[in-house]
Amino acid sequence: MKKSFFRIVGAIVVSVFVLSACTSNADSPGLEYAPDMYRSPAVEAYVDYGEVRGRIDESKKTRLTAMTPPPFAIPYIGKDSVEVRLMMPYARLANESFKASHGMYQDVLTKEDHYAAASADGNMIVLNDKNAEPILSKGKELFTAMCQHCHGEKGDGNGPMVTSGAYSGVPNYADRTSLSDGQMFYSIYYGKGMMGAHRSLLNKKEIWTVIHYIRSLQSPDYGKFDANGTAVVADTTKQK
Ligand code: HEC
Repeated sequence: MKKSFFRIVGAIVVSVFVLSACTSNADSPGLEYAPDMYRSPAVEAYVDYGEVRGRIDESKKTRLTAMTPPPFAIPYIGKDSVEVRLMMPYARLANESFKASHGMYQDVLTKEDHYAAASADGNMIVLNDKNAEPILSKGKELFTAMCQHCHGEKGDGNGPMVTSGAYSGVPNYADRTSLSDGQMFYSIYYGKGMMGAHRSLLNKKEIWTVIHYIRSLQSPDYGKFDANGTAVVADTTKQK
């Protein structure tokens, strides 16, 4: 008699306890006794913690977490459409043969000749009489740091790596004036022959900038404009 009474009371107590966790909202998981156990409190890189479950925290609003984004993440900042376009991934794929020479194992590779197709690409940064000077001086800075040791100060292919006898096969830019800006971009981005890929060292904006500088090595009047704002050397950089 006593035993079954406690069993019934016990069953009622347990049922009430369990049922109290339910809610009428079919989408709700009900009362959570230990939410941290099954909901990760991990901080996400791209989440705006300024608003969590309707609660607004002004001090955290519009501020992303301080976590470093993964490599090759695309910074999508700014409102200038040209700048934003420059940050988007390069549309031309690497050729299959590059796998062996440049160790590109994570890339989507193609059999098509994207290098030839790249000849149609114009420089995404268009020079004018106002921006030419800062762009060329930035290009020189990049060239001095990243390219000069092979290509030489004047772009003649006689950098210290070559004159020391450690390396060879670097062309004189003067012999490659027929190369289009798009092909130069492709070669710098993915590498060509003995030149390694530079896409993890320079972003697209920097590569187009350094290409302008190479053009100025090929013809000293490149990037100069007359009083009417017309380029002294025909502009090869038409945006396409
Ligand atoms: C380790 C030496 C080395 C470095 C560093 C280097 N290059 Fe080269 N570059 C070469 C060699 C070698 C070639 C010839 C590739 C071929 O045609 O087979 C070349 C070719 C080129 C070409 C011609 C590409 C074509 O399609 O014919 C351009 C343009 C160029 N390099 C630009 C650059 C720029 C810009 C940098 C710096 C960001 C740079 N290179 C850094 C060695 C180098």
